[in-house]
Amino acid sequence: MNKPETIKDTSVFAPETLLDPWDYYRAIHDAGIEIEHLAETNTFVVYSYALCSEATGKPDVFSNDFTALMGREQDEEIQAILAEGWDDVPTLLTADHPVHTRNRKLVNLAFSMKRVNAIEETMREKSIALIEAFADKGECEFVEEFAIPLPVFMIAGQIGLDTDMKQVKAWSDAAVDRFGQMADFERKKECARSLVEYQHYMKGRIDDARANGGETLLADLVNARIEGENPLTDAEIMSLMQQFMVAGNETTTSTLAGGLLQLIRNPEQMAKVKAAAGGRDPKLIMNMIEETLRYETPTSGMWRIVKQDTELGGTNIPAGAVVHLRYAAANRDPKQFENPDAFDAERKNARTHLAFGKGPHMCVGNMLSRKEMLVAFDELFERLDDFVVADEDSIGILQNILLRGVTRLPVSFTKAA
Ligand code: HEM
Repeated sequence: MNKPETIKDTSVFAPETLLDPWDYYRAIHDAGIEIEHLAETNTFVVYSYALCSEATGKPDVFSNDFTALMGREQDEEIQAILAEGWDDVPTLLTADHPVHTRNRKLVNLAFSMKRVNAIEETMREKSIALIEAFADKGECEFVEEFAIPLPVFMIAGQIGLDTDMKQVKAWSDAAVDRFGQMADFERKKECARSLVEYQHYMKGRIDDARANGGETLLADLVNARIEGENPLTDAEIMSLMQQFMVAGNETTTSTLAGGLLQLIRNPEQMAKVKAAAGGRDPKLIMNMIEETLRYETPTSGMWRIVKQDTELGGTNIPAGAVVHLRYAAANRDPKQFENPDAFDAERKNARTHLAFGKGPHMCVGNMLSRKEMLVAFDELFERLDDFVVADEDSIGILQNILLRGVTRLPVSFTKAA
């Protein structure tokens, strides 16, 4: 199928499309293109809801073992830096069965609803403390002062990081830049140094958890045993913790900021959500969060490596090819979502979105982040009113192949009566 004229000269990974991809996705869907083959990189980009869903359900064919794509460094200078740390081994997100199944069994418990409910009070206290710190000012940079610190604080507590939160964020940003494949050489070196620094820090925390236990996810994993299997190695634990650190940060931040921005842009919906805050109608707030996840899709896409010659939606894909599941496009597929470019907090099937993926690799942190966002919006709209974007020109957007979201959102507001 030919690409329509309007997007013929650009690509899904072009910087301008990453910044503002929605017209591109609309043109792709209007033209009925479900898969696009990018010949230069032998990558097949999957855009439709049906085919993204189908591929996630066939992990034997569409493998998650894509570490080679993301982190393996050819450059000797960078290799020398990485040699001072631990091997970057495939775990969870980047592993297939049986390693994936074994990792997932261990971490499922730690991310269960029971665990999430147990930290709800801490989420609420932290949300209120953050809001109170800026409530009297009448303005704030929402990302910096709320949407970043809340998830960073929650995940740092869970993975047993006792260091400065700015440091956690810097490690997480470096990991995102490594995976995003858009960093220049100097930044790549910096990211490699950051990874090694994180690993050495983490080694201390692992040894401590091994000796002293504790009520953290880290202690659970360090001390977890499955009968007949070896315990997790230090390198595996470091890799898992890094995934939690990254996945738990950027994505929840983007959804919080994206949700607030969409509500400011849609005042009637803001009024309904505000009326539901303060515990009055958590179902509506939750649906608004699902719609934000669909509409913004913080994890725009994810890689798969094809293990055997296959076919998807009538397109032949050879073994060894790279597949990119474009979840953000799938979430704007008109075959699944009516009027997909409209933000509708009351959309009936919002929750069927693919923002958390689907199948065996579906986001393990989904219950944690859903709860975090529910508590956050509940407190925010109960305590503050009349939100306005203070400076439209300074809204920032993360430009990355895998992640997209609002990185800067200056707002003004009043205190609720
Ligand atoms: C709004 C918030 C979040 C979004 C949009 C999101 C998105 C995703 C997506 C799309 C995947 C599937 C990747 C694939 O298809 O291979 C995924 C997997 C994963 N997410 Fe999340 N995530 C969020 C929050 C979190 C949180 C809070 C954590 C943990 C602290 C987390 C940890 C993970 C991990 C470890 C995986 C890999 C699971 C596996 O491969 O079995 N995520 N996430």
